[in-house]
Amino acid sequence: MAAVDTVVRQLAAGDHIILNADGYGGTHRLLTQVHDASFTLVDLVDLDAVAAAWTDRTRLVWAESPTNPGLAVVDIAALAALARERGAWCAVDNTFATPWLQRPLELGAHLAVHSTSKYLSGHSDVIGGFVATDDDALAAALRLVRNAAGAVPGPFDCFLVLRGVKTLALRMERHCANALAIAGFLAAHPAVQWVNYPGLGDHPGHALAARQMAGGFGGMLSIVMAGGAHAAASLVIGTRLFTLAESLGGVESLIGYPARMSHASLAGTPHAADPGLVRLSVGIEDVEDLLADLEQALAT
Ligand SMILES: Cc1ncc(COP(=O)(O)O)c(C=O)c1O
Repeated sequence: MAAVDTVVRQLAAGDHIILNADGYGGTHRLLTQVHDASFTLVDLVDLDAVAAAWTDRTRLVWAESPTNPGLAVVDIAALAALARERGAWCAVDNTFATPWLQRPLELGAHLAVHSTSKYLSGHSDVIGGFVATDDDALAAALRLVRNAAGAVPGPFDCFLVLRGVKTLALRMERHCANALAIAGFLAAHPAVQWVNYPGLGDHPGHALAARQMAGGFGGMLSIVMAGGAHAAASLVIGTRLFTLAESLGGVESLIGYPARMSHASLAGTPHAADPGLVRLSVGIEDVEDLLADLEQALAT
């Protein structure tokens, strides 16, 4: 979260942020419980809603695409153009997609933010993040915060991230292929009401994702269980290969329950995670083993 924090510190008191309504709960927690920032949660898929939420103090539009945990696809180029037109910054948290699948700066964003704890290191053994920009003034301001506030990774963590990046392409190919197979399997399963995965042809953001992502649709997906909260809880405790855990993007498959875990800080708000929603971080294991694990967990 240090990378997110470094960006938010670029704002002046009273500046306003437009933020993904469907987005990582930790970003919301940082803005409300640490920064006391002025922000509006908006469905960024709807650019009219973005324009309607705009105030004369809006300085930053913060987007995730695909979003966490709903896997909605935001039109980064259109959002960045709107922000530029109105004199604000567009920052994209590119953690789910990785630079291998999606490059926000090339799409016009001012800032691309990554948790390196996830796909970039890839082995769930690092906590870190970085911010990339092609704007020299912004880069200097970010460096000042990094220097003054001390959000710098240690050399060993840097080594682990650099080593991870060497296999990023290979890992992402497998993450994407496994996730696509699992999304198809889950979409046909009677216990599952809905699958959120941009690689499926009937996902509302499929065509946009195919344009703005290259090489696949990522390793993350979420499902809404037909049996609601109870069915979701049974599934997350019923898998054996998918480990119940919060993080994502490692070689091993994880399963999470956002309403109580990664997005618990939104509980009780209109943007709380659906209690029937389960999030999967699909790893690089043999896909037949992953499918068999989900099949047995859904059967119980
Ligand atoms: C989209 C997204 N961005 C940022 C983070 C924060 O990552 P870290 O755990 O490295 O602070 C997360 C964590 O889950 C995330 O899902």
